[in-house]
Amino acid sequence: MSTAISPTAYNYKVVRQFAIMTVVWGILGMGLGVFIASQLVWPELNFGLPWTSFGRLRPLHTNLVIFAFGGCALFATSYYVVQRTCQTRLISDSLAAFTFWGWQAVIVGAIITLPLGYTTTKEYAELEWPLAILLAIVWVTYGLVFFGTITKRKTKHIYVGNWFYGAFIVVTAMLHIVNHASLPVSFFKSYSAYSGATDAMIQWWYGHNAVGFFLTTGFLGMMYYFVPKQAERPIYSYRLSIVHFWALITLYIWAGPHHLHYTALPDWAQSLGMAMSIILLAPSWGGMINGMMTLSGAWHKLRTDPILRFLVVSLAFYGMSTFEGPMMAIKTVNSLSHYTDWTIGHVHAGALGWVAMISIGAIYHMIPRLFGRAQMHSVGLINAHFWLATIGTVLYIASMWVNGITQGLMWRAINDDGTLTYSFVEALQASHPGYIVRALGGAFFASGMFLMAYNVWRTVRASNPAEAEAAAQIAVVGAH
Ligand code: HEM
Ligand code: HEM
Repeated sequence: MSTAISPTAYNYKVVRQFAIMTVVWGILGMGLGVFIASQLVWPELNFGLPWTSFGRLRPLHTNLVIFAFGGCALFATSYYVVQRTCQTRLISDSLAAFTFWGWQAVIVGAIITLPLGYTTTKEYAELEWPLAILLAIVWVTYGLVFFGTITKRKTKHIYVGNWFYGAFIVVTAMLHIVNHASLPVSFFKSYSAYSGATDAMIQWWYGHNAVGFFLTTGFLGMMYYFVPKQAERPIYSYRLSIVHFWALITLYIWAGPHHLHYTALPDWAQSLGMAMSIILLAPSWGGMINGMMTLSGAWHKLRTDPILRFLVVSLAFYGMSTFEGPMMAIKTVNSLSHYTDWTIGHVHAGALGWVAMISIGAIYHMIPRLFGRAQMHSVGLINAHFWLATIGTVLYIASMWVNGITQGLMWRAINDDGTLTYSFVEALQASHPGYIVRALGGAFFASGMFLMAYNVWRTVRASNPAEAEAAAQIAVVGAH
């Protein structure tokens, strides 16, 4: 059988590349997460060197897990989903290849520059202007490939998963370009085009919508394809998917000020951000319920299918973190939670429980199909991975709740004479056990990723190019 690529087959090559890199960056980003979590337990691990200090490795962790791990998962799944639901090949193989290599170049750039201390200092937007420009070019190309493929679709309607991916691509471009507007003073240093409270507002308009569109809307696109596919059930309600899509993208964009409560931001803006965040609960749960209810009549599959378990538990964590978020956006609650580990717990309920779990489920679903195998090398290993990930997430977030509330209460405790009851160091000492549990939880989660890497490697090794290409051929005439 010939292994030549037929123009009628899907472009699975770029999907395979992004899928494999999702696992690689997942290991690196989460491994680094465990390392910085350990630094908070044993400060000696900073090694007294600037390059290995917590302050420089923390942004590398966030860039690796969000943009490298999460980003590759989004590229892989969106290219897979858009081809299969539109019944057509990607509009351009060379542009798709450019997005792969360009994205990896941005990540390697981050790995080099962040430990060296080159940073804009804006959270989740740390990369200096040359890398930011490269990222913008790659992203616009991604938009061309994605929307170009939709325009040549062979199906009549645009499947709802693509709506979510589409919104994520458009809004991420807008956020990145506006927030990065800056004046370069050298090759490695630039200053923001905005100043003071305006700069802060634009940064958190970006920051919150990075959560809303990168870490949520894109992954909802993933959810809308992989949950029905793995459960072998149609999506529960198409109408609900449309309603919650429009509500979600309309509301998210206003919620940024909840990151700036009790700051120099005008009070009305803070209250508006709080109100919008509370309303945001409704469309978030609309998505969660739509995914969960898709399992109606298929719940028994959870007993035997660990991939479905990953997907469903991710929805449970999505529901949990989107309940917690609106509560934390209430100003009085935020006065307790802000600056504490509660925020970090909330972040990882979303990041580990939702983003990582749904990505892992989607990758396990895709790998055998991409490499022409019937299933993953070992279902038992997927099951072990599932438990490591679930236990790891619970240990992480529970320890951060305890730490966060302890810190918040200790910081605000006041004696009768108006002096502080506790010093900062006492609150830090009280947090030490929680940091140990968090590092342990992280180690659980990260070790699951090693099982995944081994399982993926064995599955890929058992494949041969002809089988893999045949998978892309057959799929194009089959139903999506
Ligand atoms: C093994 C898994 C992980 C471990 C052990 C871990 C650990 C950490 C630690 C120790 C911090 C710094 C907390 C602090 O400054 O007090 C952090 C921050 C952060 N991590 Fe992770 N992480 C993991 C996975 C992830 C994943 C998968 C994501 C995203 C998809 C993620 C996103 C973030 C974000 C956004 C922050 C910054 C939070 C903030 O500024 O409020 N992490 N992580
Ligand atoms: C309805 C949905 C959500 C709302 C209203 C919400 C609200 C909030 C609030 C109030 C904070 C604390 C801000 C502060 O005190 O500084 C926060 C922090 C954060 N949330 Fe959420 N959240 C939601 C969902 C999510 C999800 C699903 C994720 C992850 C996938 C997530 C990721 C984050 C991150 C990364 C931060 C930390 C930002 C930083 O300070 O660096 N959130 N969120």
